[in-house]
Amino acid sequence: MLDMNSSQPLYEQIKQHILYNIHTGKFTPHTRIPSERSLSKQLGVSRLTVNKAIKELIQDGWLYVQIGKGTFINDGTIDQELDTLTGFTEEMAKRGQRADSYVLEIGVQPASDTVAQTLRIAKGLPVVRLKRIRRVNNQPIALETSSLIVALCPNIERYDFSKLSLYDILRNEYDIRLVYAQQTFESRRATDDEAHHLKLKKGSPILAIARVTYADNDAPVEYVESVYRGDKYKFTAILRRI
Ligand code: GLP
Repeated sequence: MLDMNSSQPLYEQIKQHILYNIHTGKFTPHTRIPSERSLSKQLGVSRLTVNKAIKELIQDGWLYVQIGKGTFINDGTIDQELDTLTGFTEEMAKRGQRADSYVLEIGVQPASDTVAQTLRIAKGLPVVRLKRIRRVNNQPIALETSSLIVALCPNIERYDFSKLSLYDILRNEYDIRLVYAQQTFESRRATDDEAHHLKLKKGSPILAIARVTYADNDAPVEYVESVYRGDKYKFTAILRRI
């Protein structure tokens, strides 16, 4: 099963082995995977190697641990740890998933009161508004409406955001380094429009997030209002005692 002569590290091969069992339905959601000890016996490798593979699969959201009970298969809910600033495409890539978007709207328009205040610009100045359905494996996960100051990223609307990452374009084409963000969360019921785009039943629970992302000079760059499917996404915050 494992190829000891392969250039692919053993822990990588073990990850592939477990993922294969998940994808082929041998390991179904919420069932326990064999213990590290039995996997190491079964595969003929050290427990340390198995542990490394399992740790990474937990980090990537494929597995989760129940203390005292074992390690279980995740049910496809995406669990994002809130300790680093990442974009959607990057978050999904970390999990070995490919994200794409359906662009509902992209264009320049005058900043509303809220957008102007948040981005610290005068009301009415031009902002780019990008409204996207964020998808993974063709499934809608979130609806995001981003507003960006036109002066910082002129003509950004020419890019095809159904395939491209906004953060990649900001970094690579406009040299904008995003450094931190402030997010507020609110749980509520989906509006009819949100439910339609996210393929949810009317009034389903969703997680609404407002985010302002700042560049290294503390200047706000984007203001985003997003709505995440409550059944597909959860956020875990890392709290450290100070
Ligand atoms: C996340 C953030 C958004 C940000 C987006 C960028 O979803 N909540 O504020 O605009 O990532 O994602 P991407 O780089 O994939 O376009």
